[in-house]
Order: sequence, then C-alpha cells, then structure tokens
Amino acid sequence: MALTQAGTTSGDGWSSRTAFILAAVGAAVGLGNIWRFPTLAGENGGGAFILVYIGFVILLGLPLVLSEILLGRAGGEDAIGSVRNVAAHSKRSEAWKGIGALQITAGFLILSFYSVVAGWVINYVFASGGDFLGALFSGEPFAGAFAGESQEEITGRMGELFANPALLIGLHAVFMAATVWIVASGVGDGIEKAAKWLMPAFFVLLVIVTLYGAIVTDEFGDAVAFMFTPDFSALNPTALNEALGQALFSLSLAAGGLLTYGAYVSRDVNLAPTATMIAFADTGVAMLAGLMIFPIVFSVGLDPAAGPALIFQSLPIAFNQMPAGSLIGFVFFTLIFFAALTSSISLLEGPTAWVIDRFRFRRPVAAILVGGVAFAIGVVCALGYNVLSEVRPLGFWDIFADSDILDTLDGFTGKIMLPLGAFLVAVFVGWFADRRLVQQQTGLSGGMFMLWRFLVAFVCPIAVGLVLLFGLFPGLI
Ligand code: PHE
Repeated sequence: MALTQAGTTSGDGWSSRTAFILAAVGAAVGLGNIWRFPTLAGENGGGAFILVYIGFVILLGLPLVLSEILLGRAGGEDAIGSVRNVAAHSKRSEAWKGIGALQITAGFLILSFYSVVAGWVINYVFASGGDFLGALFSGEPFAGAFAGESQEEITGRMGELFANPALLIGLHAVFMAATVWIVASGVGDGIEKAAKWLMPAFFVLLVIVTLYGAIVTDEFGDAVAFMFTPDFSALNPTALNEALGQALFSLSLAAGGLLTYGAYVSRDVNLAPTATMIAFADTGVAMLAGLMIFPIVFSVGLDPAAGPALIFQSLPIAFNQMPAGSLIGFVFFTLIFFAALTSSISLLEGPTAWVIDRFRFRRPVAAILVGGVAFAIGVVCALGYNVLSEVRPLGFWDIFADSDILDTLDGFTGKIMLPLGAFLVAVFVGWFADRRLVQQQTGLSGGMFMLWRFLVAFVCPIAVGLVLLFGLFPGLI
C-alpha cells in the first residue's frame, strides 16, 4: 500500500514545523500539567513521585511520543486508518487498527469530562475577573482576591458551583462550543491558529505568575525542596500507576491526538528532535506549574495534599492573602483556560478526523456531531456532583469504589485505557511494524535508533504492562 503524503482527507496539514510543535505542545500542555500534576505530586509526597514521573517521561513517554507521531505520519489518515495503513504496508493483520479505535475512544471520553473541568476554570476566570474589576474601580488594583470574604466563603464558592447543575452544564457547554468552533474551522485556520495565539500567551502568563510567587513569597526554596527531595517511602504501586497514567495523559499519549496530528506533519520534518522538544516542553511546564503553585500554597500554610481542590479552593485562599492577589488570580485562571483549550481541540480532532475519513462528512458537521455526543456524556459527569451524587458507576470494582461519575471516567481512561493503548503502540511499533519504514520515519540512525528501538520494544511494554497490572490489582504486591 502506498502511504500518502502529509495532508489527508480530513485535514490540510501544518504550515511549518513550528506550527506543528506549537499545536502538539498545545495538546500536551493542559489541565494535566497545571491541575492534575501538582495535585498528584502533592498527594504523593512530592519529590519521589516527581522523580519517578520524570523517569517515566524520558524512558517511556519520549519514545512513545515519537512512535505515535511516526505512525500518524507514515499512515497519513485518522488514527484508525493510519495504523491500518502501516499494518498493511508491513504485511500485518488489519486488526492492529484496533489501537486507533481504542485511542480515539479514550480521547473522546477524556474530552467529555475534560470540558466539564474546563468549565470550572471558566467559572473562576469570571469570578476572579469580576473581583479584579471591582478592586480596580474601587481604587485598589493591588488588593487580595475576594477581599472581604472569609475563608469559608472563598472555599464555599466551589461547593456552590457544584450544587448548581445549570451553571456547571452551561459552562461546560461554553467550553465545548469553543472547542468545536476551532476544530470546525480546520487544521490550518482553526487548530494551528489557536495554538499560535494561545500558547505564547500561556507561556508569558505562566512565567509572570511563577516569578510573582518567587518574589512575593518566602517559600520558593521550600517548594523546590518539596518537589525535588525524594522520600521513597511515599511510593507504592498505586503511586507508580498514577505517575505513569499522568505521564501518558500529560504527553497526550494513547488518546488519538498525536496519531492524528502526526498525519498532518510534512515529510521533511525530522521527527526525533521534534518529539523530544514536545516531551521536554510539556515536562518543563509541569515543573514550572509546581514551582508556580507550591510556593503560593506554602506561603499561607496550606496543605499541598489538598487533592483536586488545590487549584480551586486552596489557591483562591492564598490569593486572598497576597498583594495583588486579585489580579494574579485572574491571570492564573486565564492561563489555565488557554492551556485547556489547546488540549481539548486535540482531543476533539482525533474522533472528528475519523468521522470525516470514515463517513465523508464535512468537517464542521463531524466536529459538531462528536462534540455534541461528548457534551452529553459530560452533562452526566456534571450531574454527578449534585443530582447523581450517589452514583458510583463502577462501584463494584474496588479501585473505583469511591469514585463519582467524573472520577470514574478519569480513572478508567487514565489508569486503564491509556496504559493499554500505550502498551499496544509499543508492541506494534517495536515488533510488528516494518522496521525500514519505522527507521526512515524516525530519522534516527546507528546507536540512537538501537537505543530508541530497545526502549520501545522492551522497556515500554514491560514497564507499562507491569504498572497497568499492579494498578488493576493493587493486591499483587
Ligand atoms: N495532555 C493534556 C493535558 O495535560 C490532556 C490530553 C490528553 C490532551 C490526551 C490530548 C490527549 O491536559
């Protein structure tokens, strides 16, 4: 089978290598870096978790990022079609395309709850924006956030939001609509353009808030110590599973996005350094996010292990007590919103490209259709905080016994679907795909190719397989 050039039925291709890098980094950097990573690091004791996380990124994440992009570029279609094309070219069973199907399903499910969480972010963008405007007009532009509110009132804002299904669903709708609109506008005019504007803005804001924390608080050193002094007693199989799931999630692996974006990359782009840049940028942002958040959390004596409420409850309390906290809070939530949007468009693009290729729908129709169904699933997640708060969808399964609807989807995709999808990619690229095709796509030669292939063929399947197993059956150890 002749493998097609970049630019597929579903998309027109990136205008340049930089455009691809921005879009892929945009896909990678998101709620995962700024909400999930600091939360998990905080809950798992900091240093040791972060060390393991970085190890996973280098040994597993980076080789897999390259594997997925090359599969996409070699296959030149949506995630399912690309894997099928590479399998056919390598004279392997078409059943391998199931990898694409698994990934697209994972991405689609992630999109549905991701948009709900992004809706919370929008709520805080408005709340903190309104608060800042109020401060500005009363002549106190450098006031703390939510001045005049007690701690209970500030943390209570999240509970109020969760108790309000209409608001949760409305915000989720706004975010999903924005995502659909960008994807419907096309690869070049939508996704690429969005990444070109939002990513630079995101980086500037991230640096501003990090510098602010370093200058205004005395706890920057404590945060560095917390993040980089490993306490290995905090590690257990669940933490390892969590670190791997987080590495995969954060790098946007196994969710169809990279496979799909890879298909839009032109032949002359050298993939190995490009994949390396993407993985490093994503990990760098996660570290910076930690260095941005922990000093602020520590400076007001809050607990880094606050869980998902870290961003939405602990930080607003901190901003309340800090100079210019009102402004910084607004900037902070705006930057998370930008990051979430460039990620959600990659989540939507995977299934959308498939619908376009498979059913020959026009792009806007496909995007609205996929976004609409994901929206409906998200509505159920949102109701899980109020009307359906008793529901535990996989309550019979001990690892999900306490998980509400959104947590269940998050856990099921992150702990099971993503590791499984990554495992299969490693096995396919490492053992079954045509070796010459693969090598040519990587642009690697000699020892570097051997090293990469060793990681993909041996280290990734074994490590990912083990972590998946222990995650599913914590009792094994
Ligand atoms: N990597 C994104 C984040 O960290 C989430 C994501 C996962 C995006 C999978 C695309 C595919 O927020």
